[in-house]
Amino acid sequence: MIEIKNLKKTFQNPETKIDQTILAIPSYEFKKGEKYALFGPSGIGKTTLLHIISGLLTPDSGELLVNGVNVASLTEADRDQYRAKNIGYIFQSFNLLDGFTALENVMLGMLFTGQGTDKSKAVAALTKVGLADRLHYMPSQLSVGQQQRVSVARAIVNDPEIILADEPTGNLDPATSNDILALLFEQSKDKTLIVVTHEEHVLNQFDHKVDMLSFIPQPTN
Ligand SMILES: Nc1ncnc2c1ncn2[C@@H]1O[C@H](COP(=O)(O)OP(=O)(O)OP(=O)(O)O)[C@@H](O)[C@H]1O
Ligand SMILES: [Mg+2]
Repeated sequence: MIEIKNLKKTFQNPETKIDQTILAIPSYEFKKGEKYALFGPSGIGKTTLLHIISGLLTPDSGELLVNGVNVASLTEADRDQYRAKNIGYIFQSFNLLDGFTALENVMLGMLFTGQGTDKSKAVAALTKVGLADRLHYMPSQLSVGQQQRVSVARAIVNDPEIILADEPTGNLDPATSNDILALLFEQSKDKTLIVVTHEEHVLNQFDHKVDMLSFIPQPTN
């Protein structure tokens, strides 16, 4: 379970040097076993929120508790461990490494857990996403839908509790997009799934639709 309390994130405008508050979330909970879609206009802070949840960015104030642990209070090394063990991250652009096979890409996702790589687990993850017969293909030899399946396999290989996906279907045609979404749902049954999406047909498949506009800091005069 992810609990957000009075979370604030500010970025400095690189030109004016003025601090701009991007996120101000009084309180929100993402529960285990539930699926959340984040939506809202470009630049509103969707990716920033995913980065904070994954420990890549730290908030300026407030708390992000994951199973009771305040992620921002961890050292950088502990945050890296937290991310490797608890977070599966899926990108719109897949982010697979070109010179490596599907199997190697998934095994690379195991490097940072501190528990070494385990080929049989990587094979099992690729089998779960329907790619048992594509283990040794390079990304360039896979269809875009298959490439996104590899990145889903990479995201689930460490059996994380939280799966974050930043517009995972943005580069896919509607049929492939529905396949990937179904796969994500199937693989995150007992996990917390948070998906950023702009697409109505994707949004409609979620019980929790989180309007990021509601997290815009209110002006104080
Ligand atoms: N390192 C940074 N320094 C300054 N401003 C930043 C930085 N990172 C992000 N921002 C600003 O924070 C805001 C939110 O960015 P973010 O990437 O979270 O938006 P988004 O909702 O994911 O948009 P999109 O739908 O286009 O992906 C943007 O206005 C962006 O310019
Ligand atoms: Mg974004």
